[in-house]
Amino acid sequence: MRLDLCTWREVEAYLKQSSGIVIPVGSNEQHGPIGLIGTDALCAQSVALEMAKLTRALVAPTLCYTPAPFNMSFPGTISISEETFQQMVEEIVTGLASQGFTKLYFLNGHGANLAPLKRLQEPVRRPDNCSIRIRSWWDFEPVNELRRDFYGDWEGMHATPSEVAITQATHRIVEDVSATQAPRKLSADYMKVHAGDKHGPADQHRRDFPDGRVGSHSALARPEHGEALLSAAASAAAHDYADWIDD
Ligand code: NI
Repeated sequence: MRLDLCTWREVEAYLKQSSGIVIPVGSNEQHGPIGLIGTDALCAQSVALEMAKLTRALVAPTLCYTPAPFNMSFPGTISISEETFQQMVEEIVTGLASQGFTKLYFLNGHGANLAPLKRLQEPVRRPDNCSIRIRSWWDFEPVNELRRDFYGDWEGMHATPSEVAITQATHRIVEDVSATQAPRKLSADYMKVHAGDKHGPADQHRRDFPDGRVGSHSALARPEHGEALLSAAASAAAHDYADWIDD
């Protein structure tokens, strides 16, 4: 159930049954030649809404204005500073907790969100009565098995075929012949050092990765993969949420 499609009376009734809420977090940034700008937000939202069907959890509006400074040289990317994002999520947590939402489940779709989200777990940054859980949709083993089976090393780091496949299943397919060629392959070392979207300045990032793909062969994506990935992620996240909420 989407919070934004509820009335306040419905939310008040929900709070008598549950103190949990799912908050999808994505980004609004370039995702290569065939990936949609909203990919991270669309994936997080799709997984959260499917998961909510299984758990009857309430889903908050998706946060899509997040830090992606390294992609600002690609038009369409909108990035806010990590500090602003940090402050925004802290205020969202405090506000929800004051109304009785004390179990907040962040369903993430963008690597650069992880450091500021994890800081929410520091006691000074959240109300005492509030617990926070953070999971990215690719954290779950059944999802990772599918990513390995479908794409192997070509999953890469950005504009991944798995995220593109999910948006193909849920939103739109873009064709572009230039994307059928594999991107430059990244070393294991590169991926380790740059995990969590630790990329350099925007102009250098565009020079290094001119079409926006970072080691990911996006064109291997298929809508049927997306359906399988979405259903694996939603079902794993639903179990994870249900176990956590019952604790
Ligand atoms: Ni992404």
